[in-house]
Amino acid sequence: MCGIVGYIGKQRALPIILDGLKALEYRGYDSAGVAVVGKHGKGFQVRFAKAPGRISVLEGKLGDGTDFEGNVGIAHTRWATHGEPNEVNAHPHHDCKNNIFLAHNGIIENYKDLKSELLEKGHVFCSETDTETLVHLIEDMRDSDPNSTFEEVVMKALRRVRGTYGLAILDRREPEKIVAVRNFSPLLLGVGDGEYIIGSDASAVLKYTRQIVYLNDGEIAVLTPSRHHIFTLENQTVMRAPQEIDWTIEQAERGNYPHFMAKEIFEQPESIENSLRGRLVPEEGLAKLGGLESVEKDLRKAKRLIIAACGTAYYAGMVGKYMLEEYAGIPTEVDLASEFRYRKPVFREGDIFLAISQSGETADTLAALREAKQKGVLTLGIVNAVGSTIARETDAGVYQHIGPEIGVASTKAFTSQLTILALLTLFLGRQREMSITIGRRIAEELKQLPILVGRVLAGHQNIQTIVKKYSAHRNFLYLGRKYNFPVALEGALKLKEISYVHAEGCSAGEMKHGPIALIDETFPSIFLAPSDSVYEKVSSNIQEIKARRGPVIAIGTEGNGDLKRFTNDVIYIPKTLEMLTPMLSVVPLQLFAYYAALIKGCDVDKPRNLAKSVTVE
Ligand code: F6R
Repeated sequence: MCGIVGYIGKQRALPIILDGLKALEYRGYDSAGVAVVGKHGKGFQVRFAKAPGRISVLEGKLGDGTDFEGNVGIAHTRWATHGEPNEVNAHPHHDCKNNIFLAHNGIIENYKDLKSELLEKGHVFCSETDTETLVHLIEDMRDSDPNSTFEEVVMKALRRVRGTYGLAILDRREPEKIVAVRNFSPLLLGVGDGEYIIGSDASAVLKYTRQIVYLNDGEIAVLTPSRHHIFTLENQTVMRAPQEIDWTIEQAERGNYPHFMAKEIFEQPESIENSLRGRLVPEEGLAKLGGLESVEKDLRKAKRLIIAACGTAYYAGMVGKYMLEEYAGIPTEVDLASEFRYRKPVFREGDIFLAISQSGETADTLAALREAKQKGVLTLGIVNAVGSTIARETDAGVYQHIGPEIGVASTKAFTSQLTILALLTLFLGRQREMSITIGRRIAEELKQLPILVGRVLAGHQNIQTIVKKYSAHRNFLYLGRKYNFPVALEGALKLKEISYVHAEGCSAGEMKHGPIALIDETFPSIFLAPSDSVYEKVSSNIQEIKARRGPVIAIGTEGNGDLKRFTNDVIYIPKTLEMLTPMLSVVPLQLFAYYAALIKGCDVDKPRNLAKSVTVE
């Protein structure tokens, strides 16, 4: 995810903002840039540099830094959303006259309309980003209103913007000022002695100060070396004392969670929200997927979808098959990419290939994609890492926008992949037979998901207690049907990969065809049993396990008191549409695996023998 740093004070800004950028590297990025205001000759000028790739590449461009003298600066690491990760698209962006410079995290949703208006007025754009629109908009307003202060103009411009933003902005003509704004994208001020450091998270400032003022959504801070003034976008002054933080940099990166995996599990309400942002039109029951606009006509004619992926992403694809066939009426096949590449897949006219990959670099998924391309099939991707090989090589696609996933065990990437598959179902379904009523229903339920996932997470202590009760067991069977069959597979994968406890996932319908032979009082089963169209069948399977004295933990829907009568333990999830239940039912399984690994003292973020991105076969 993108990172912002800013400095204003008595020291040279450049080394401090570069330190801040390095501290934000853990968030993942694909390009970086700095802008510093300093006195050059008679007046103030802004010197800036940007580079794709690592911060070391940017440092190479800065040379010994003497060109970048000055006590005020802003910097940015970019995780591309609009436009490739290259030099021009990197931040900070500037206006036509190189006066105003701006670093932005978030998305300007209405940038297309604003941009065409500004182009008509003669503004010259250099990049493909949504962000650049904002800097020209501020310029436009500043030119038409020379008597207002810089911050007043910024506020006026922001009133025209729809979207999310954390911003650090400077203007050469007011060289002793930085304006920082937060709206659904974190931003804070590190308060030093006659200096301020802005950071999109605390790790960017911790080397210099532990006194932090957190900005809230809808707040703007105006910083000069000697003071800061915070007010709301409605112009109400905000008084907020700094807080002293006692975390280490490592802890700051993990946001006070003991492991990245825990952080990533608990941030799922936010990551799902990020995957949905700007993509739903609930009143029309539509999904707007900008990345698929160029192939919209081909998708309308598509006769079959072939999904290929590995591991967790493959299980997401399996859930996608149920969604796409039930609601979009489009035949869908799901393949393990490692199998797809070596069998002889038969393609037909109207086939569309879809690769799903968090990293965008998984060797088998990439090989499957290349095979499909070679056969002339239109290829799509659902990818998290912007600019990754799979993202670049597919014809079109949808980014997950969830920031880097650092824990080796995939968690937030899975729920985000399911979110995008649901959006794709809506998109393809509405191109076909899906009614506006069904479309609206799906869109409304999707909108609720972040809140519902938050409710499941709130029950984490109950899950921890249940895990303790079963901590001596060395084998688990995970069972589910229909939408929750792939969730059973994913739950078992999570447990084995981080706690090294043997777990098997199985379709509950297949249980009697073999796995039930394992069951006795020492072998617990975890049943996915939400109140859906297959609940009756699943509850019969539970009874069959109980009849063989097997302990049962069930994931059931709130309000189903019945389950308690014939299981040992129940974890409840809120009600939602059947096709969306996997996004809720997987969360207790992630927590189950996490707590089980903690009890065993395992290295949760770096399980043995596993790599985050499997770039070899
Ligand atoms: C499991 C896990 C792996 C990945 C798989 C695919 O927790 O992380 O199974 O899901 O290696 O990785 P991506 O999505 O990067 O292609």
